[in-house]
Amino acid sequence: MQIAIDGPGGAGKSTLSKLLAKKLGFVYIDTGAMYRAAGLACLRQNVVIREETDKAVSVVEGTEIDLTVSEEGQRIFLNGEDVTGLIRTPEVSMAASDVSAIPAVRLRLVALQRQLASTRDVIMDGRDIGTYVLPDAPIKIFLTASSDERARRRFIELKERGENCTFEAVLAELEERDKNDSTRAFAPLKPAEDSIIVDTTELNFEESLARLYDIIQERL
Ligand code: DC
Repeated sequence: MQIAIDGPGGAGKSTLSKLLAKKLGFVYIDTGAMYRAAGLACLRQNVVIREETDKAVSVVEGTEIDLTVSEEGQRIFLNGEDVTGLIRTPEVSMAASDVSAIPAVRLRLVALQRQLASTRDVIMDGRDIGTYVLPDAPIKIFLTASSDERARRRFIELKERGENCTFEAVLAELEERDKNDSTRAFAPLKPAEDSIIVDTTELNFEESLARLYDIIQERL
């Protein structure tokens, strides 16, 4: 069984998917972590991704990116180094968005995502899971919320983690990423035609979780 959850950043995909996977006994796979790891690899090599596409491709092709899943959750590795704790900064978010626009990078990571989804029941979240990675997934959800609300949630999350940021900067970064992710030529962010669109702007966390759980239960 495959459940695809797509949507823009800050819509709550990963927190909700993680809990749903636990409730349903599925494995949760966060594909954004792979693009974040690829972005981090480029940042470490001082590649200006938007201007140096070839360099970015060669860095990503020369780097082993692995994702492991277990009861304790998902871990992401770059050449064997566990970078799970290093990929959630605003700088890495933007690098991930930039590197994800490069078709050669996507093809490599999509192959890994399909392989991970082929042997187990998964809830996979990302931007193109329903449209491109798992087009035959029987349950597809497009999770969204207004950009102000998404920025507010992301701002609280970053503050709780001790990051030094302003609401305005978080909002600007989210909007720039939305634009980047939805206007790229290859597998852009958009709802699959057969997806169910859930807008959580007016819903709190418990209500969002209940809505998704009901949608999934109805279709399982
Ligand atoms: O979900 P996230 O915020 O961790 O994703 C980081 C970036 O990676 C996002 O801005 C776009 C890219 N991404 C993608 O292009 N396709 C996916 N399936 C997942 C993420």
